[in-house]
Amino acid sequence: MAQSNARSAQASKILETSPLDPAEARWIRLGKITYTDPLGVKRVWETAERQTRPKNSTIDGVGIIAILDTAQGPEILLQKQFRPPINKVSIEVPAGLIDEGETPEQCAVRELKEETGYVGAVEKTSTVMFHDPGLTNANSSLVHIRIDMSLPENQSPVPELEENEFIECFTVPLATLYEETKRLEQEGFGIDARVGTLAEAIELGKKYSF
Ligand SMILES: *[C@@H]1O[C@H](CO)[C@@H](O)[C@H](O)[C@H]1NC(C)=O
Ligand SMILES: *[C@@H]1O[C@H](CO)[C@@H](O)[C@H](O)[C@H]1NC(C)=O
Repeated sequence: MAQSNARSAQASKILETSPLDPAEARWIRLGKITYTDPLGVKRVWETAERQTRPKNSTIDGVGIIAILDTAQGPEILLQKQFRPPINKVSIEVPAGLIDEGETPEQCAVRELKEETGYVGAVEKTSTVMFHDPGLTNANSSLVHIRIDMSLPENQSPVPELEENEFIECFTVPLATLYEETKRLEQEGFGIDARVGTLAEAIELGKKYSF
C-alpha cells in the first residue's frame, strides 16, 4: 500500500560538500578519546557525538517497528527520506530523537503520529542498541507498535511534518521484506541498517524455522 504525499522524498539535490569547522557544528561534535588497549599501549580513537542528547534519557532516540494488521497479513510501515550524507533516498523505519522528560515509548507514539499520521499501541521495547559503535556513541531502542486498522483515526492518516521534513510512508508485507529491500536497492534507494537487519533476521527465521 502506498500513500500519496505531495512532499516527495525524491526531489532533493546536493549543491556542495565541504569540511565542517567545529565552531560551526550545531548537531555533531567530534572528539578524540585516549585509552589503553589490553596490552597497556596508549591509543587514540576519533568519535562523533550528538549534541542533542536529552538530559535524563537512557537513549538518544527510537526506531519504530510499526506493524499494521491487514487481511493479507502483517505489514511493516517504512519511510522514504532523502539523507544528504549518502546522497540517496533511504529506506528507514520511522524514528526520532527523545524530547526531554519523554520515555522511549512516549517518543515512539508521538513520532509515529507526527511522521505517519498513524495512532498505535506500544507492545514492547528492545535493548539499547548502538548504531555504529566504531564511529559514534549514538544509541536507540526499537519500540514495537501495533497499528489497529479498524480504528477510525487510522482510516486516512495525515502526517504532521515539520517544514524541513519530506517523508513518504509505505508498507511492505513482513513476509516479503527481504525481497523488497533487494528490489528497492536495485532501484537506487539506500537501505538503512535497521531495515536491512530486520529483513535478514526474517530470512534467518524462515531458514531455521524459529
Ligand atoms: C545512550 O544514550 C543516552 C542519551 O544520550 C545516554 O544518556 C546513555 O548514557 C547512552 N547509553 C550508553 C550505555 O552509552
Ligand atoms: C527526567 O527528569 C525529570 C525531572 O528530574 C522527571 O520528571 C522525568 O520523569 C525524567 N524523565 C525520564 C524519561 O526519566
